[in-house]
Amino acid sequence: MSDRSRPHVLMMSEITADGKLTLKKGASSKILMKYMAHETEILLHRTRAEYDAIMVGSNTIRIDNSYLTVRLVEGRSPLRVIPNSRADLPLDANVLKGDTPTLIAVCEEADPGRVAAIRAQGAEVVTVGRQQVDLPRLMQLLKEEYGVERLMIEGGPTLNWSMLNHRLVDEIRLIHLPFIIGGSDTPSLVGGMHIESEDEMIRLSLKRYYMCGSNLVTEYDVIY
Ligand SMILES: NC(=O)c1ccc[n+]([C@@H]2O[C@H](COP(=O)([O-])OP(=O)(O)OC[C@H]3O[C@@H](n4cnc5c(N)ncnc54)[C@H](OP(=O)(O)O)[C@@H]3O)[C@@H](O)[C@H]2O)c1
Repeated sequence: MSDRSRPHVLMMSEITADGKLTLKKGASSKILMKYMAHETEILLHRTRAEYDAIMVGSNTIRIDNSYLTVRLVEGRSPLRVIPNSRADLPLDANVLKGDTPTLIAVCEEADPGRVAAIRAQGAEVVTVGRQQVDLPRLMQLLKEEYGVERLMIEGGPTLNWSMLNHRLVDEIRLIHLPFIIGGSDTPSLVGGMHIESEDEMIRLSLKRYYMCGSNLVTEYDVIY
C-alpha cells in the first residue's frame, strides 16, 4: 500500500527484450523510442496527462533533452521535476522552456549563481539534501507543498535505482520493444548498487499485460 505522506509513484519505461533503455552508454533513448508503436506513444502521453508530476534524472535531461510535456493527446502537462544536486543543468535545456511549470531540486552545495540562473529561466528551485537530492524528502515536499498526489518517473537507471532503493515506487509499467542490444555498460532499467543476496531482490507482482499496437505492455505492483 502507498505511504500517504508522499505521492503514489509509477515508474514507466520502454525497454528492449534484454532490459536495455538505450543503444549504448551516453546515447539518447529517443533513438529507441522511434520504434514504439503510435498507440504506445499515445499511452505514454495519456499517462503523463493523468499524473500531477513527472520526474526524470538530470542525466536524462543532459542526454535526451526531454520536454516531458503532453503533446499527442488533449490534457494538461504535469509539473516537471528534475533532481539536479549541483544546479548544473544546461540553461538551454528544453525542460526549462515553455509554459509548463518546472521544479529543479538541488542540494545545499549547489552554487547560488547557478540556482539564480535556473530561476531566471522561469523554473522553481527547491533545496532538499546536503550533498545529493534527498528523494524521500522531495517526495514529501511534492505532496505537501505542490499537491502532487500522483507522480510518474521516466528514468534513467540511476534515478530508478535510487527511487526503488528508498522504497518510493508503487507501480512499474513497461513498454517492451522486440530488440536485443547487449553491452555490459548499456543502461538498463535499474542501475545502482549490486545486491548481495536474494533477500535484497525487489519483488514485483504482475497485475496486467496487454498489447498496445504492436508493443507488449506489462504492469506490476512493487512489493517491499
Ligand atoms: N528508455 C527509457 O525509457 C529511458 C528513460 C529515461 C532515460 N533513459 C536513458 O537513461 C540514460 C541516463 O540515465 P542515467 O542513469 O545516466 O541518469 P539519470 O537517472 O537520468 O540521472 C541521474 C542523475 O540524477 C541526479 N540525482 C540527483 N539526486 C539524485 C538521487 N537522489 N538519486 C539519483 N540521482 C540523483 C544525479 O545527478 P546530479 O549530479 O545532477 O545530481 C544523477 O547522476 C540516458 O541514456 C537516457 O537516454 C532511457
